[in-house]
Amino acid sequence: MEIRIEAHVAHVAVSAADVLESYVRSGPVTLGLATGSTPVPTYRELIRRHREEGLSFARSRAFLLDEYVGLARSHPESYYSVIRSEFVSHVDLADTAVQSPAGQAADPEQEAARYEAAIRSAGGVDVQVLGIGSNGHIGFNEPGEHLDSRTHVGLLAEQTRTDNARFFESIDDVPRRCITQGLGTIREARHLLLIATGAAKADALAAALHGPVTSDCPASVLQLHDHVTVIADKAAASRLQRAGCGAA
Ligand code: PGA
Repeated sequence: MEIRIEAHVAHVAVSAADVLESYVRSGPVTLGLATGSTPVPTYRELIRRHREEGLSFARSRAFLLDEYVGLARSHPESYYSVIRSEFVSHVDLADTAVQSPAGQAADPEQEAARYEAAIRSAGGVDVQVLGIGSNGHIGFNEPGEHLDSRTHVGLLAEQTRTDNARFFESIDDVPRRCITQGLGTIREARHLLLIATGAAKADALAAALHGPVTSDCPASVLQLHDHVTVIADKAAASRLQRAGCGAA
């Protein structure tokens, strides 16, 4: 596992964009994209490179990690919409090349199975962007999730609903269910790129990287993967034992 600690969020974005750019330039690639606040500066950096440096996503395709159950695709907070407004609509990544679970499917369980199969039949994900929840979740795999789980319908933890309430008018509007790639699904991506910024992630990041591998901290499954890059700012890295490692 490579841990990069950067002085500022802007440096985190550059460092993460460097990892993704190397894949995108290498040929046809399948990206695993995450939503939430954390990857937004990285997406902005990639958009800048597209506009100013000719970085092309024309040969890329992408799968999202997760989606709320019950929000229409057109809802501005559906992850279908968010990934387009934050990233996809600003680059030459074809809209049809970006897949996500259908949160309004009549049968969400069946949709989860379909999505899992779609990822597999595409040959899997080359590099998966991950954020980390303040409770240690990745995707919407909340504490207690089985470490080998596949794409499934899950319940959002109350901590997650509280954390995500900022995107909605009130916490009552935050969906309670999701479809998320499972921890086993995520672990099949060939390279995991975890981005963490801000002091609110410090405890979760330390537990994920230095604590036991346990479903109490879903992100601890990163320890089971042989190709992981963690990029954190100093605030998120403040509880890491090797806080000097790679420090900018
Ligand atoms: P955030 O969410 O980037 O909005 O903090 C991360 C996550 O919940 O995975």
